[in-house]
Amino acid sequence: MATHGSGSAFPTAALVCAMRAEATRLGIDPDLGEPDMLAESFAGDLGRAFLNAFRAAGGSTPEGEARGIIHRTNYYDAAMLQAVQSGCTQVLLLGSGLDTRAWRLPLGEGVTVFEVDVACAHEFKRERLAEIEQEQPIRDGTTESHAKKLAHLRGAKCKRVEVDADLSEARWGRLVADAGFDMERPAFILAEGLLMYLPDKDVTEGLFKQVRGLMAPGSWFMGCAFVSGLGCADAADNGVMMKFGCAWTFKFESADEVRDALEATGFGSVTLKQAQIFFDQGAGLVQTSSPGYQYFSARRDTEA
Ligand SMILES: C[S@@+](CC[C@H](N)C(=O)[O-])C[C@H]1O[C@@H](n2cnc3c(N)ncnc32)[C@H](O)[C@@H]1O
Repeated sequence: MATHGSGSAFPTAALVCAMRAEATRLGIDPDLGEPDMLAESFAGDLGRAFLNAFRAAGGSTPEGEARGIIHRTNYYDAAMLQAVQSGCTQVLLLGSGLDTRAWRLPLGEGVTVFEVDVACAHEFKRERLAEIEQEQPIRDGTTESHAKKLAHLRGAKCKRVEVDADLSEARWGRLVADAGFDMERPAFILAEGLLMYLPDKDVTEGLFKQVRGLMAPGSWFMGCAFVSGLGCADAADNGVMMKFGCAWTFKFESADEVRDALEATGFGSVTLKQAQIFFDQGAGLVQTSSPGYQYFSARRDTEA
């Protein structure tokens, strides 16, 4: 498996997708929208193998992981729906991986969801979509869940556009515009689970600049970032990551550094929020805020 280059982080999309599938299986459903009926199929064998290895390395429980990922999913679901309701007709998912929001959330006909990731991510997702279409529901006894998956796939009203791009490079903004993204219309732009796979701070700041350049007034930019001291990004977990050819390569030094980088790029209304993680040290599941994992939100408020 590749250990370098822009495609090397793709297996992590299958990992988090497998966590969302687990949340659906355990009944830890998002508060908003529909349970993620597609996650199990999208995660595939790759996601299940990665999740099993992650668990075997210890330090996490299936329910803890599922609750953590669903907490993150809910948070961005709510923000995205609010942005769309307030007039953002474009959703731009940076490092979209195996995101199912284009099908799962009630985004209307006038909304376009641009999914940006490396080519192998889109290819993997297309293969899983084809498999769902070809599933034999009666034979394998999955009639009900298969019907729900198909209803999800066919019920989507928004338009979905795939964009192949390396987000560590300078020209991805141009590729997004070429795919139909309109820089004159407000957008909700999300970098969920992406920045920790970028090579360094310069590249991250370059990405912020390209995002800022795409944003019409009224647009939102949200995402998450690791900062030094994150318990779950320790060496043991990174060892599992490396088995799948992936690595967490970038962290900010502090939450203030995240804020400063966004403000220096010209974003306004910057807010930070600690992610919620869930762990079990033998006495039941404990929920806590993680200062080492920050959710950020920024706006382009004015013409400035
Ligand atoms: C942890 S996954 C997150 C996927 C999705 N946002 C989610 O939360 O389910 C990270 C994703 O970022 C993508 N990614 C990482 N570095 C990238 C790069 N340089 N260019 C494009 N995509 C990248 C990976 O391919 C992968 O799909």
